[in-house]
Amino acid sequence: MTCAHGLLQNHEAAFAIDASRIVFGPRTLDEVGEHAKSLGAKRVALFTDRAVGKLEHVSRARKSLQNANIDVALYDAVHVEPTDASFIDAALFAKEGRFDAYVSIGGGSTIDTCKAASLYATFPADFLDYVNAPVGAGKPVPGALPPHIACPTTCGTGSETTGIAVCDVLALKAKTGIASARLRPSLALVDPTCTYTLPPEVVAASGFDVLCHALESFTARAFSSRAYGLPRPLSQGANPWSDIGSREALRIGGENFVDAVQGSERARDQLAWAATLAGVAFGNAGVHIPHAMAYAVAGLVRDFRMKGYPQEEAMVPHGVSVVVNAPSAFRFTAGTNPERHRIAAEILGDRDGDLSRALETLMRKASVPVGLREVGYTRDDVPALVKGTIVQKRLLSNAPRDVGEAELVELFEGAL
Ligand SMILES: [Fe+2]
Repeated sequence: MTCAHGLLQNHEAAFAIDASRIVFGPRTLDEVGEHAKSLGAKRVALFTDRAVGKLEHVSRARKSLQNANIDVALYDAVHVEPTDASFIDAALFAKEGRFDAYVSIGGGSTIDTCKAASLYATFPADFLDYVNAPVGAGKPVPGALPPHIACPTTCGTGSETTGIAVCDVLALKAKTGIASARLRPSLALVDPTCTYTLPPEVVAASGFDVLCHALESFTARAFSSRAYGLPRPLSQGANPWSDIGSREALRIGGENFVDAVQGSERARDQLAWAATLAGVAFGNAGVHIPHAMAYAVAGLVRDFRMKGYPQEEAMVPHGVSVVVNAPSAFRFTAGTNPERHRIAAEILGDRDGDLSRALETLMRKASVPVGLREVGYTRDDVPALVKGTIVQKRLLSNAPRDVGEAELVELFEGAL
């Protein structure tokens, strides 16, 4: 695990467990009012997007909040795959409403938007101040934020248990985010029944996001390879705590993936639990190359649209933008820790321990695009994809191997 020798070499020998509060189980969304009350809420901003806003989840939550005598104001203009502009719009709503607590209901876009809205309403600043360097100034969040109850309705993202909010900075054509332990929701309320009505394509895309969170946390650079220094970063690298969540998320997620896509409610319950475990793991260890590449893949999209998602705008769903890179990324990292790659592959059902092949098999079974060509990219796009990825320093530095421009060219060519 770790040893005192690390101290002698000025290497990190400790890891932190910043666990989230989680309530998991069917119909728990109906408890949101009681949880909000116990957090001291009297006036709540309820964040969602237009599509989720039409579903019964939001009316259920609203009723529960009203039954607890809490005032509710609805913001249903969350942009799926948020931008700096959509974050700012949400923050204006949050500032004007003078709320003492927040509830978010939806996918990662909604939960992330709620985190950002609460941040800029509570500690106003220029937008780029809190955004990760080098795109932004990477300033620390100055203090605690009001309570936030995050209620995921997809079995993916893990945003409900992390301190990360991701967005596109439109003028810079860069996908980046804000990372601070203070953005972590006060409570994750995970009601797997919310996933029962999701289209199969959405379950497939978000399910691959879950598997990649687990795989990237498990194969990230070891926490003990960092130099010692306080405060410890949010993304500590693979550590004994995140390994527990990663392994179990892979096992449960892998076993239930195909059934969950095909609509089994029992399998969707299990996938939601795997997503929660993977979220806890990656909130603690951090992800690396596939997610770093995904920012560019999603940000530079031309005309790809996926069934099951809004069709108005071209968009590569987050989980797909991640998993199309994953086989190439794990071929690249396999030599750094063959044992971990083999264990992960075997958990996912590849008897020869080939992680990239295990993923490609599952991608075909779930009918998601296998490789970058299938989401509309060609070799000519590689320089732009590399440029959009090289700025993801926080993620790339969590990889088990050094990644520069030459390596990224190889990685993207391998993903075509
Ligand atoms: Fe993700």
